[in-house]
Amino acid sequence: MSSQVTLTLNPAFRVAPVRRRTFGAFVEHLGRCVYSGIFEPGHPTADEDGFRTDVLALTRELGVSSVRYPGGNFVSGYRWEDGVGPVEQRPARHDLAWHSTDPNTVGLDEFMAWAKKAEVEPMYAINLGTRGVEEALDVLQYANAPQGIALSDQRAENGSPEPHGIRMWCLGNEMDGPWQTGHKTAEEYARLATETARAMRQEDPDLELIACGSSNSQMPTFGAWEKAVLTEAYDHVDMISAHVYYSEKDDDQASFLASADDMDQFIDAVVATADHVRATLKRDKRIMISFDEWNVWYQHRAESRPPSGDDWPVAPVLLEDTYNAMDAVVVGNLLISLLRHSDRVASASLAQLVNVIAPIMTEPGGAAWKQTTFHPFALTSQHAKGEVLDVRLAAPTFENARFGTSSAADAVATWDEESGDLAVFVVNRGNQDALDLDADLSAFGELELVEAVTLHHEDPYAANSKDAPDTVTPQPNENIRVEGGRLVGSLPEISWSLVRLSRPAA
Ligand code: AHR
Repeated sequence: MSSQVTLTLNPAFRVAPVRRRTFGAFVEHLGRCVYSGIFEPGHPTADEDGFRTDVLALTRELGVSSVRYPGGNFVSGYRWEDGVGPVEQRPARHDLAWHSTDPNTVGLDEFMAWAKKAEVEPMYAINLGTRGVEEALDVLQYANAPQGIALSDQRAENGSPEPHGIRMWCLGNEMDGPWQTGHKTAEEYARLATETARAMRQEDPDLELIACGSSNSQMPTFGAWEKAVLTEAYDHVDMISAHVYYSEKDDDQASFLASADDMDQFIDAVVATADHVRATLKRDKRIMISFDEWNVWYQHRAESRPPSGDDWPVAPVLLEDTYNAMDAVVVGNLLISLLRHSDRVASASLAQLVNVIAPIMTEPGGAAWKQTTFHPFALTSQHAKGEVLDVRLAAPTFENARFGTSSAADAVATWDEESGDLAVFVVNRGNQDALDLDADLSAFGELELVEAVTLHHEDPYAANSKDAPDTVTPQPNENIRVEGGRLVGSLPEISWSLVRLSRPAA
Protein backbone atom coordinates (compact mmCIF):
# COMPACT_ATOMS: atom_id res chain seq x y z
CA MET A 1 0.00 0.00 0.00
CA SER A 2 1.24 3.48 -0.80
CA SER A 3 0.04 7.06 -0.38
CA GLN A 4 1.28 10.41 -1.53
CA VAL A 5 3.41 13.23 -0.13
CA THR A 6 3.31 16.49 -2.06
CA LEU A 7 6.15 18.94 -1.46
CA THR A 8 5.75 22.61 -2.34
CA LEU A 9 9.20 23.89 -3.20
CA ASN A 10 9.88 27.52 -4.00
CA PRO A 11 13.06 29.63 -3.88
CA ALA A 12 10.98 32.39 -2.25
CA PHE A 13 10.50 30.24 0.88
CA ARG A 14 13.90 31.34 2.15
CA VAL A 15 14.67 30.81 5.84
CA ALA A 16 18.34 31.85 6.15
CA PRO A 17 21.69 30.98 4.61
CA VAL A 18 22.95 27.47 5.37
CA ARG A 19 25.26 27.85 8.36
CA ARG A 20 28.32 25.63 8.39
CA ARG A 21 28.17 25.59 12.18
CA THR A 22 24.96 23.54 11.99
CA PHE A 23 27.26 20.58 11.37
CA GLY A 24 29.23 20.65 14.60
CA ALA A 25 30.03 17.70 16.86
CA PHE A 26 31.30 17.16 20.40
CA VAL A 27 34.39 15.58 21.95
CA GLU A 28 34.13 15.06 25.71
CA HIS A 29 36.59 13.46 28.12
CA LEU A 30 34.09 10.64 28.56
CA GLY A 31 34.61 6.92 28.04
CA ARG A 32 36.66 6.28 24.89
CA CYS A 33 35.86 9.48 23.01
CA VAL A 34 39.32 10.98 23.56
CA TYR A 35 41.48 8.05 24.71
CA SER A 36 41.40 5.33 22.00
CA GLY A 37 38.93 7.52 20.09
CA ILE A 38 40.68 10.53 18.60
CA PHE A 39 43.95 9.80 20.45
CA GLU A 40 45.76 6.48 20.57
CA PRO A 41 49.55 6.60 20.40
CA GLY A 42 50.79 3.24 19.19
CA HIS A 43 47.79 2.63 16.97
CA PRO A 44 48.93 1.58 13.47
CA THR A 45 47.40 4.75 12.01
CA ALA A 46 48.58 7.13 14.78
CA ASP A 47 50.48 10.20 13.60
CA GLU A 48 53.49 11.79 15.32
CA ASP A 49 51.15 13.40 17.91
CA GLY A 50 49.33 10.17 18.71
CA PHE A 51 46.13 11.05 16.81
CA ARG A 52 44.41 8.26 14.89
CA THR A 53 44.54 9.29 11.26
CA ASP A 54 41.73 6.85 10.40
CA VAL A 55 39.48 8.83 12.79
CA LEU A 56 40.74 12.14 11.42
CA ALA A 57 39.86 10.99 7.89
CA LEU A 58 36.36 9.89 8.99
CA THR A 59 35.86 13.18 10.85
CA ARG A 60 36.61 15.10 7.66
CA GLU A 61 34.38 12.77 5.64
CA LEU A 62 31.57 13.33 8.13
CA GLY A 63 31.78 17.03 7.23
CA VAL A 64 32.09 18.26 10.81
CA SER A 65 32.40 22.04 10.99
CA SER A 66 33.06 22.71 14.69
CA VAL A 67 33.76 20.60 17.76
CA ARG A 68 32.74 21.37 21.33
CA TYR A 69 35.32 20.37 23.96
CA PRO A 70 36.15 19.19 26.71
CA GLY A 71 32.63 18.50 28.13
CA GLY A 72 29.78 17.98 28.90
CA ASN A 73 29.27 17.01 32.52
CA PHE A 74 33.02 16.38 32.69
CA VAL A 75 33.85 20.07 32.39
CA SER A 76 32.05 21.02 35.60
CA GLY A 77 34.84 19.48 37.69
CA TYR A 78 37.71 20.02 35.24
CA ARG A 79 40.90 21.97 35.94
CA TRP A 80 42.09 23.06 32.51
CA GLU A 81 45.66 23.63 33.72
CA ASP A 82 46.01 19.89 34.53
CA GLY A 83 45.99 19.30 30.77
CA VAL A 84 48.80 21.62 29.68
CA GLY A 85 52.59 21.46 29.96
CA PRO A 86 54.93 18.46 29.98
CA VAL A 87 52.79 15.34 29.82
CA GLU A 88 54.87 13.45 32.40
CA GLN A 89 54.14 16.16 34.97
CA ARG A 90 50.38 16.22 34.45
CA PRO A 91 48.29 14.88 37.33
CA ALA A 92 45.74 12.12 36.99
CA ARG A 93 42.41 13.14 38.51
CA HIS A 94 39.07 11.61 39.32
CA ASP A 95 36.35 12.70 36.92
CA LEU A 96 33.27 12.88 39.16
CA ALA A 97 30.80 13.12 36.29
CA TRP A 98 31.67 9.74 34.78
CA HIS A 99 33.35 8.08 37.79
CA SER A 100 36.54 7.66 35.80
CA THR A 101 40.20 8.66 36.02
CA ASP A 102 41.54 11.19 33.54
CA PRO A 103 45.30 10.90 32.98
CA ASN A 104 45.25 14.38 31.39
CA THR A 105 47.47 13.22 28.55
CA VAL A 106 45.23 15.20 26.23
CA GLY A 107 44.40 18.80 27.06
CA LEU A 108 43.81 22.14 25.40
CA ASP A 109 46.95 22.28 23.24
CA GLU A 110 46.54 18.71 22.04
CA PHE A 111 42.89 19.32 21.24
CA MET A 112 43.78 22.42 19.24
CA ALA A 113 46.42 20.47 17.30
CA TRP A 114 43.82 17.80 16.57
CA ALA A 115 41.19 20.39 15.55
CA LYS A 116 43.61 21.86 13.03
CA LYS A 117 44.26 18.45 11.50
CA ALA A 118 40.54 17.66 11.49
CA GLU A 119 39.82 21.06 9.88
CA VAL A 120 37.21 21.96 12.50
CA GLU A 121 36.52 25.13 14.44
CA PRO A 122 36.89 24.68 18.22
CA MET A 123 34.11 25.51 20.68
CA TYR A 124 35.50 25.54 24.23
CA ALA A 125 33.41 24.99 27.37
CA ILE A 126 34.61 26.48 30.65
CA ASN A 127 33.98 25.11 34.12
CA LEU A 128 31.33 27.12 35.97
CA GLY A 129 30.52 24.19 38.28
CA THR A 130 33.46 24.14 40.69
CA ARG A 131 35.16 27.25 39.30
CA GLY A 132 34.45 30.81 38.28
CA VAL A 133 35.54 34.11 36.74
CA GLU A 134 39.25 33.87 37.49
CA GLU A 135 39.75 30.44 35.93
CA ALA A 136 37.67 31.45 32.91
CA LEU A 137 39.97 34.42 32.36
CA ASP A 138 43.02 32.22 32.86
CA VAL A 139 42.04 29.68 30.24
CA LEU A 140 40.99 32.46 27.86
CA GLN A 141 44.36 34.20 28.22
CA TYR A 142 46.24 30.92 27.94
CA ALA A 143 44.35 30.05 24.75
CA ASN A 144 43.99 33.36 22.97
CA ALA A 145 46.33 36.09 24.24
CA PRO A 146 49.33 37.01 22.12
CA GLN A 147 52.66 36.27 23.77
CA GLY A 148 53.87 38.73 26.39
CA ILE A 149 51.83 37.86 29.48
CA ALA A 150 52.36 35.03 31.92
CA LEU A 151 49.76 32.60 30.61
CA SER A 152 50.35 33.13 26.90
CA ASP A 153 54.10 32.80 27.46
CA GLN A 154 53.38 29.52 29.22
CA ARG A 155 51.43 28.39 26.15
CA ALA A 156 54.39 29.32 23.94
CA GLU A 157 56.75 27.36 26.21
CA ASN A 158 54.38 24.42 25.88
CA GLY A 159 54.83 24.48 22.13
CA SER A 160 52.03 26.77 20.84
CA PRO A 161 53.56 30.23 20.22
CA GLU A 162 50.59 31.46 18.20
CA PRO A 163 47.27 32.19 19.96
CA HIS A 164 44.71 29.45 19.38
CA GLY A 165 42.07 32.03 18.44
CA ILE A 166 39.05 30.22 19.93
CA ARG A 167 35.92 32.30 19.14
CA MET A 168 33.05 30.27 20.65
CA TRP A 169 32.95 29.76 24.43
CA CYS A 170 30.29 27.90 26.41
CA LEU A 171 29.72 29.38 29.88
CA GLY A 172 29.49 26.08 31.73
CA ASN A 173 27.41 23.00 30.95
CA GLU A 174 23.85 22.03 31.93
CA MET A 175 24.00 24.05 35.13
CA ASP A 176 20.24 23.54 35.65
CA GLY A 177 20.71 19.77 36.14
CA PRO A 178 20.88 18.43 39.71
CA TRP A 179 23.39 15.82 38.41
CA GLN A 180 25.83 18.57 37.47
CA THR A 181 28.85 19.11 39.73
CA GLY A 182 28.26 22.60 41.14
CA HIS A 183 24.60 22.67 40.00
CA LYS A 184 23.04 26.11 40.49
CA THR A 185 19.68 27.79 40.63
CA ALA A 186 18.80 29.97 37.64
CA GLU A 187 19.55 33.11 39.65
CA GLU A 188 22.93 31.83 40.89
CA TYR A 189 23.92 30.76 37.41
CA ALA A 190 22.64 33.96 35.77
CA ARG A 191 24.86 36.01 38.07
CA LEU A 192 27.95 33.87 37.57
CA ALA A 193 27.51 33.61 33.79
CA THR A 194 27.00 37.37 33.52
CA GLU A 195 30.06 38.20 35.60
CA THR A 196 32.14 35.67 33.67
CA ALA A 197 30.94 36.94 30.30
CA ARG A 198 31.60 40.55 31.30
CA ALA A 199 35.17 39.71 32.36
CA MET A 200 35.84 37.62 29.24
CA ARG A 201 34.59 40.47 27.07
CA GLN A 202 36.95 42.85 28.90
CA GLU A 203 39.72 40.60 27.67
CA ASP A 204 38.27 40.28 24.15
CA PRO A 205 34.99 41.98 23.14
CA ASP A 206 34.63 39.88 19.99
CA LEU A 207 34.16 36.47 21.62
CA GLU A 208 30.95 34.56 20.92
CA LEU A 209 29.55 33.55 24.29
CA ILE A 210 26.95 30.89 24.96
CA ALA A 211 24.91 30.80 28.17
CA CYS A 212 23.55 27.49 29.44
CA GLY A 213 19.91 26.93 28.63
CA SER A 214 17.99 23.94 29.94
CA SER A 215 19.39 20.41 29.79
CA ASN A 216 16.20 19.38 27.98
CA SER A 217 12.70 20.68 27.53
CA GLN A 218 11.30 18.26 30.15
CA MET A 219 13.24 19.93 32.97
CA PRO A 220 10.83 21.37 35.58
CA THR A 221 12.54 24.75 35.21
CA PHE A 222 12.45 24.79 31.39
CA GLY A 223 11.39 28.23 30.18
CA ALA A 224 11.73 29.86 33.59
CA TRP A 225 15.47 29.06 33.50
CA GLU A 226 15.99 30.65 30.07
CA LYS A 227 13.99 33.70 31.12
CA ALA A 228 15.96 34.23 34.35
CA VAL A 229 19.34 33.66 32.72
CA LEU A 230 18.68 35.91 29.74
CA THR A 231 17.07 38.65 31.79
CA GLU A 232 20.43 39.11 33.53
CA ALA A 233 22.89 38.03 30.84
CA TYR A 234 21.15 39.35 27.69
CA ASP A 235 23.66 42.08 26.84
CA HIS A 236 26.67 39.88 27.51
CA VAL A 237 25.95 36.69 25.55
CA ASP A 238 25.16 35.81 21.93
CA MET A 239 23.53 32.41 22.25
CA ILE A 240 21.69 30.21 24.71
CA SER A 241 22.24 26.47 24.60
CA ALA A 242 19.72 23.69 24.06
CA HIS A 243 20.33 19.96 24.58
CA VAL A 244 18.17 16.98 23.70
CA TYR A 245 18.46 13.20 23.33
CA TYR A 246 15.80 10.89 21.92
CA SER A 247 15.38 7.12 21.99
CA GLU A 248 12.76 4.51 21.33
CA LYS A 249 11.08 3.75 24.65
CA ASP A 250 8.71 0.91 25.55
CA ASP A 251 8.70 -0.34 21.93
CA ASP A 252 6.94 2.87 20.89
CA GLN A 253 8.40 3.20 17.40
CA ALA A 254 5.84 5.76 16.26
CA SER A 255 6.64 8.35 18.96
CA PHE A 256 10.36 7.86 18.41
CA LEU A 257 9.99 8.40 14.67
CA ALA A 258 8.19 11.68 15.36
CA SER A 259 11.04 13.02 17.57
CA ALA A 260 11.71 15.97 15.25
CA ASP A 261 8.26 17.35 16.17
CA ASP A 262 9.62 17.73 19.69
CA MET A 263 12.78 19.42 18.47
CA ASP A 264 10.68 21.88 16.43
CA GLN A 265 8.61 22.72 19.51
CA PHE A 266 11.69 22.96 21.72
CA ILE A 267 13.35 25.48 19.39
CA ASP A 268 10.15 27.49 19.03
CA ALA A 269 9.78 27.67 22.83
CA VAL A 270 13.35 28.87 23.40
CA VAL A 271 12.99 31.46 20.63
CA ALA A 272 9.72 32.70 22.16
CA THR A 273 11.32 33.00 25.60
CA ALA A 274 14.40 34.81 24.29
CA ASP A 275 12.24 37.19 22.27
CA HIS A 276 10.02 37.83 25.28
CA VAL A 277 13.09 38.91 27.26
CA ARG A 278 14.18 41.03 24.27
CA ALA A 279 10.81 42.81 24.31
CA THR A 280 10.93 43.31 28.06
CA LEU A 281 14.43 44.76 27.93
CA LYS A 282 13.66 46.72 24.74
CA ARG A 283 16.74 45.47 22.92
CA ASP A 284 17.39 45.17 19.17
CA LYS A 285 19.76 42.22 19.38
CA ARG A 286 18.32 38.74 19.03
CA ILE A 287 19.69 35.84 21.05
CA MET A 288 20.47 32.80 18.90
CA ILE A 289 20.41 29.12 19.87
CA SER A 290 23.46 26.91 20.19
CA PHE A 291 21.98 23.39 19.98
CA ASP A 292 25.22 22.07 21.35
CA GLU A 293 24.10 18.56 22.30
CA TRP A 294 21.61 16.55 20.24
CA ASN A 295 21.36 12.93 19.19
CA VAL A 296 19.71 9.58 19.76
CA TRP A 297 20.89 8.17 23.10
CA TYR A 298 19.60 5.00 24.85
CA GLN A 299 20.30 6.38 28.32
CA HIS A 300 18.54 3.57 30.18
CA ARG A 301 20.81 0.83 28.77
CA ALA A 302 23.73 -0.72 30.67
CA GLU A 303 26.17 0.94 28.23
CA SER A 304 25.40 4.29 29.88
CA ARG A 305 25.86 3.26 33.52
CA PRO A 306 29.11 4.77 34.91
CA PRO A 307 31.39 2.65 37.09
CA SER A 308 30.89 2.92 40.85
CA GLY A 309 32.55 2.28 44.21
CA ASP A 310 36.32 1.96 44.15
CA ASP A 311 36.41 1.46 40.42
CA TRP A 312 37.72 4.64 38.71
CA PRO A 313 38.95 3.31 35.35
CA VAL A 314 40.73 5.26 32.63
CA ALA A 315 38.65 5.53 29.44
CA PRO A 316 36.05 2.83 30.25
CA VAL A 317 33.55 1.64 27.66
CA LEU A 318 30.67 4.06 28.29
CA LEU A 319 27.69 5.25 26.25
CA GLU A 320 28.78 3.07 23.30
CA ASP A 321 25.35 2.85 21.70
CA THR A 322 24.95 0.86 18.49
CA TYR A 323 22.70 2.70 16.07
CA ASN A 324 20.19 1.06 13.75
CA ALA A 325 18.54 2.14 10.52
CA MET A 326 15.62 3.76 12.33
CA ASP A 327 18.01 5.78 14.52
CA ALA A 328 19.65 7.10 11.33
CA VAL A 329 16.27 8.17 9.96
CA VAL A 330 15.57 10.05 13.20
CA VAL A 331 19.03 11.70 13.12
CA GLY A 332 18.42 12.73 9.49
CA ASN A 333 15.05 14.17 10.52
CA LEU A 334 16.59 16.09 13.44
CA LEU A 335 19.01 17.67 10.96
CA ILE A 336 15.99 18.66 8.85
CA SER A 337 14.57 20.40 11.93
CA LEU A 338 17.87 22.16 12.72
CA LEU A 339 18.24 23.36 9.12
CA ARG A 340 14.62 24.55 9.04
CA HIS A 341 15.43 26.75 12.04
CA SER A 342 18.64 28.21 10.62
CA ASP A 343 17.24 31.69 11.21
CA ARG A 344 17.65 31.14 14.98
CA VAL A 345 19.85 28.07 15.44
CA ALA A 346 23.28 29.53 14.83
CA SER A 347 25.30 26.52 15.86
CA ALA A 348 24.68 22.85 16.65
CA SER A 349 26.77 19.91 17.87
CA LEU A 350 25.95 16.26 17.34
CA ALA A 351 26.83 14.60 20.65
CA GLN A 352 29.26 13.05 20.33
CA LEU A 353 31.90 12.30 17.65
CA VAL A 354 33.73 9.04 18.45
CA ASN A 355 32.69 5.92 20.44
CA VAL A 356 30.44 7.80 22.90
CA ILE A 357 26.93 7.96 21.34
CA ALA A 358 28.82 8.53 18.14
CA PRO A 359 28.70 8.22 14.35
CA ILE A 360 32.32 6.93 14.36
CA MET A 361 33.38 3.81 16.30
CA THR A 362 36.86 2.50 16.94
CA GLU A 363 38.47 -0.66 18.18
CA PRO A 364 41.59 -0.06 20.30
CA GLY A 365 44.51 -1.04 18.09
CA GLY A 366 42.08 -1.93 15.32
CA ALA A 367 39.51 -0.66 12.87
CA ALA A 368 37.34 2.45 12.76
CA TRP A 369 33.89 2.22 11.18
CA LYS A 370 30.78 4.23 10.41
CA GLN A 371 27.55 3.82 12.35
CA THR A 372 24.25 4.18 10.47
CA THR A 373 23.89 7.75 11.74
CA PHE A 374 27.12 8.77 10.02
CA HIS A 375 25.42 8.75 6.62
CA PRO A 376 22.57 11.28 6.86
CA PHE A 377 24.90 13.65 8.74
CA ALA A 378 27.69 13.41 6.16
CA LEU A 379 25.37 13.77 3.17
CA THR A 380 23.47 16.71 4.67
CA SER A 381 26.69 18.49 5.58
CA GLN A 382 28.10 17.89 2.11
CA HIS A 383 25.08 18.91 0.07
CA ALA A 384 23.27 21.61 2.09
CA LYS A 385 24.44 24.76 0.30
CA GLY A 386 23.19 28.28 -0.33
CA GLU A 387 19.86 29.18 1.26
CA VAL A 388 17.69 26.97 3.45
CA LEU A 389 14.16 26.72 2.02
CA ASP A 390 11.14 25.94 4.09
CA VAL A 391 9.18 23.12 2.45
CA ARG A 392 5.39 23.09 2.70
CA LEU A 393 4.08 19.55 2.52
CA ALA A 394 0.85 17.63 2.36
CA ALA A 395 1.22 14.07 3.60
CA PRO A 396 -0.72 11.35 5.41
CA THR A 397 -0.51 11.45 9.18
CA PHE A 398 0.14 8.84 11.83
CA GLU A 399 -0.93 8.65 15.45
CA ASN A 400 1.61 8.36 18.24
CA ALA A 401 1.42 8.39 22.01
CA ARG A 402 3.81 11.30 22.53
CA PHE A 403 2.65 13.89 19.97
CA GLY A 404 -0.84 12.76 18.97
CA THR A 405 -0.88 13.25 15.22
CA SER A 406 2.32 13.65 13.18
CA SER A 407 2.98 14.03 9.49
CA ALA A 408 4.32 10.83 7.91
CA ALA A 409 6.81 12.91 5.95
CA ASP A 410 9.10 15.78 6.80
CA ALA A 411 11.41 17.73 4.51
CA VAL A 412 13.65 20.73 4.06
CA ALA A 413 15.53 21.96 0.98
CA THR A 414 18.57 24.08 0.19
CA TRP A 415 18.97 26.15 -2.95
CA ASP A 416 22.20 27.57 -4.29
CA GLU A 417 21.08 30.21 -6.79
CA GLU A 418 24.54 30.70 -8.21
CA SER A 419 25.30 27.08 -9.05
CA GLY A 420 21.65 26.16 -9.59
CA ASP A 421 21.88 23.25 -7.12
CA LEU A 422 18.77 22.19 -5.25
CA ALA A 423 19.02 19.57 -2.48
CA VAL A 424 15.89 18.07 -0.96
CA PHE A 425 16.19 16.19 2.35
CA VAL A 426 13.08 14.14 3.08
CA VAL A 427 12.04 11.43 5.51
CA ASN A 428 9.23 8.94 5.36
CA ARG A 429 8.83 8.43 9.09
CA GLY A 430 5.60 6.50 8.92
CA ASN A 431 6.27 2.87 9.80
CA GLN A 432 3.59 1.35 7.57
CA ASP A 433 3.64 2.49 3.98
CA ALA A 434 5.88 3.69 1.19
CA LEU A 435 5.03 7.24 0.13
CA ASP A 436 4.76 8.46 -3.45
CA LEU A 437 6.71 11.67 -3.77
CA ASP A 438 5.42 14.51 -5.92
CA ALA A 439 6.87 18.03 -6.21
CA ASP A 440 6.46 20.75 -8.81
CA LEU A 441 9.91 22.10 -9.68
CA SER A 442 8.79 24.88 -12.04
CA ALA A 443 9.63 27.73 -9.62
CA PHE A 444 13.33 26.92 -10.14
CA GLY A 445 13.28 26.90 -13.95
CA GLU A 446 14.54 23.73 -15.59
CA LEU A 447 16.24 21.26 -13.24
CA GLU A 448 17.63 17.83 -13.90
CA LEU A 449 18.22 15.02 -11.45
CA VAL A 450 21.82 14.63 -10.29
CA GLU A 451 21.23 11.75 -7.87
CA ALA A 452 18.75 10.38 -5.38
CA VAL A 453 19.89 8.22 -2.48
CA THR A 454 17.83 6.59 0.25
CA LEU A 455 18.82 5.14 3.61
CA HIS A 456 16.41 2.32 4.41
CA HIS A 457 16.64 -1.27 5.59
CA GLU A 458 13.86 -3.85 5.53
CA ASP A 459 14.75 -4.46 9.18
CA PRO A 460 14.66 -1.04 10.90
CA TYR A 461 16.77 -2.52 13.71
CA ALA A 462 19.61 -3.53 11.37
CA ALA A 463 22.92 -1.93 12.38
CA ASN A 464 26.52 -1.64 11.23
CA SER A 465 29.41 -3.29 13.07
CA LYS A 466 33.17 -3.64 12.79
CA ASP A 467 32.73 -6.84 10.80
CA ALA A 468 29.75 -5.65 8.73
CA PRO A 469 30.23 -1.87 8.45
CA ASP A 470 28.07 -1.50 5.32
CA THR A 471 24.90 -3.27 6.45
CA VAL A 472 22.99 0.03 6.46
CA THR A 473 24.19 2.60 3.95
CA PRO A 474 22.41 4.99 1.59
CA GLN A 475 21.66 3.37 -1.76
CA PRO A 476 20.78 4.94 -5.11
CA ASN A 477 17.00 5.34 -5.31
CA GLU A 478 16.26 4.42 -8.93
CA ASN A 479 12.58 5.19 -8.42
CA ILE A 480 13.07 8.91 -8.11
CA ARG A 481 13.04 10.89 -11.36
CA VAL A 482 12.04 14.19 -12.96
CA GLU A 483 9.02 13.92 -15.25
CA GLY A 484 7.46 16.93 -16.98
CA GLY A 485 9.01 19.37 -14.52
CA ARG A 486 7.89 17.35 -11.48
CA LEU A 487 9.95 15.34 -9.06
CA VAL A 488 8.30 11.97 -8.60
CA GLY A 489 9.22 8.61 -7.08
CA SER A 490 8.80 6.44 -4.08
CA LEU A 491 10.08 6.72 -0.50
CA PRO A 492 10.07 3.43 1.43
CA GLU A 493 8.69 3.31 4.97
CA ILE A 494 11.15 4.44 7.69
CA SER A 495 13.61 6.02 5.28
CA TRP A 496 15.73 9.14 4.85
CA SER A 497 16.47 10.43 1.35
CA LEU A 498 18.56 13.06 -0.36
CA VAL A 499 17.53 14.21 -3.82
CA ARG A 500 19.99 16.41 -5.70
CA LEU A 501 18.90 18.43 -8.71
CA SER A 502 20.70 21.00 -10.78
CA ARG A 503 20.20 23.53 -13.54
CA PRO A 504 21.36 21.90 -16.80
CA ALA A 505 24.65 23.21 -18.17
CA ALA A 506 23.99 26.00 -20.72
O1 AHR B 1 26.77 13.80 25.95
C1 AHR B 1 26.67 13.09 27.14
C2 AHR B 1 26.25 13.97 28.31
O2 AHR B 1 24.94 14.41 28.11
C3 AHR B 1 27.02 15.24 28.51
O3 AHR B 1 28.17 15.07 29.26
C4 AHR B 1 26.05 16.10 29.25
O4 AHR B 1 26.25 17.48 29.01
C5 AHR B 1 24.69 15.61 28.80
O5 AHR B 1 23.84 15.39 29.85
